[in-house]
Amino acid sequence: MPQKNKKPLVSIIMGSQSDYSTMKHTENTLKYLKIRFETRTVSAHRTPKRLFEFANKAKKNNISVIIAGAGGSAHLPGMVASITSIPVIGVPIESKKLKGLDSLLSIVQMPKGIPVGTVAIGKDGAINAALYAASILGLENKEIRIKLNQLRSKQTKSVKLKPS
Ligand code: RP5
Repeated sequence: MPQKNKKPLVSIIMGSQSDYSTMKHTENTLKYLKIRFETRTVSAHRTPKRLFEFANKAKKNNISVIIAGAGGSAHLPGMVASITSIPVIGVPIESKKLKGLDSLLSIVQMPKGIPVGTVAIGKDGAINAALYAASILGLENKEIRIKLNQLRSKQTKSVKLKPS
């Protein structure tokens, strides 16, 4: 990736510090792919002004993809997507009481008009959100596309024909 511009391409946001143990997997995957990112705690209900300011400035800050982790009544990704047309990928955090089914259904069931790309609950989703962001960015950025294809090729080679 051209290193002239050091600004982040991806914003990772989450509703609470307690989401970080999941969202660190998004960070690690983006780091592996050498994609610049920033990470913020932004709560739709506890810090609504921060949410609005973040989403409102994201385009001006040259952010290309927003990855939003949220749990429970997980309105953060949908709220952000309502303020900006930058693609938003929602990561359902595994909640204590309902194991993340609440988060998943909240994020995936956006009514027509404001889409949120939704990935799996928890760690798998956090990793896939980063890979999905790389696919989007890779349309325009050859270095990211190459990195992503290398990762996939390595993954393919790691699957042995014989399971034991
Ligand atoms: C949501 O509430 C957050 O995304 C988090 O997953 C959940 C619980 O937050 P804490 O009570 O742990 O701060 O807003």
